[in-house]
Amino acid sequence: MRPSGFTDDEWVPAPDRRRLANAAACSDPTSYWNAKTMTLADVTYLPEVPAHDAEIDSINEEAFGPGRFARAAYKIREGGPHDRTLSFVAVSDGLAVASVRMRPVVAGDGRSYMLGPLAVRPAYKNLGIGRRLVSIALEAAQRAGAPSVILVGDEPYYGPLGFKRIPRGQISMPRPVDLDRLLAVELVPGAVATLTGEVGHAAQHRVAEPIRIAS
Ligand SMILES: CC(C)(COP(=O)(O)OP(=O)(O)OC[C@H]1O[C@@H](n2cnc3c(N)ncnc32)[C@H](O)[C@@H]1OP(=O)(O)O)[C@@H](O)C(=O)NCCC(=O)NCCS
Repeated sequence: MRPSGFTDDEWVPAPDRRRLANAAACSDPTSYWNAKTMTLADVTYLPEVPAHDAEIDSINEEAFGPGRFARAAYKIREGGPHDRTLSFVAVSDGLAVASVRMRPVVAGDGRSYMLGPLAVRPAYKNLGIGRRLVSIALEAAQRAGAPSVILVGDEPYYGPLGFKRIPRGQISMPRPVDLDRLLAVELVPGAVATLTGEVGHAAQHRVAEPIRIAS
């Protein structure tokens, strides 16, 4: 099923120079073949389902290595599951080749979604797939009523996608992080200012619902 809001062919033409440069950069013959023959017309964006889990683990292992478990964002990921309705894969030849995940977080009185990990198979880099996945995830978050989306990442990459630095000291992470890499995109005006203190998975900060007693 394709989520609403975009079509398979709206992003199609990839400049040939990029595909060829990408292919030339690949030392693995299989990757070379994929990169040389792949076009964006072969890539489909889909909501993530459990059947993608093993491929996504492999994509993230390849992109981040074992060090990913020590990252600040991973500590939050340990706190609870991602939201599959806001998480997406790029699929080529029936295989997931890129993934973006989102999970609900809270910080002080504010709630948000944390984007990540975002990773693209090396043979598929620099074709616009990462940017497209971020855009799709942001559109889905907005439709779902998310007030904002935050992440730990490179401003030069995420800035053009709407992310801005969160003022230093406004929020913190459960592990040390470069504060200049804490970025947010605001989907509801004023939402980012409500985020304060340490960010945690929403599942660990759930406030008990008041019990209603029938009279
Ligand atoms: C970062 C990543 C997701 C980008 O995905 P992608 O599909 O290759 O990127 P896109 O095609 O959307 O964008 C390519 C552009 O982004 C730039 N770019 C890539 N990574 C960047 C970074 N970390 N900082 C700044 N620019 C970056 C490229 O140079 C290219 O620029 P150009 O358009 O001017 O040529 C991918 O390289 C990847 O999986 N990296 C390893 C995992 C990772 O670092 N994830 C992000 C964690 S914050």
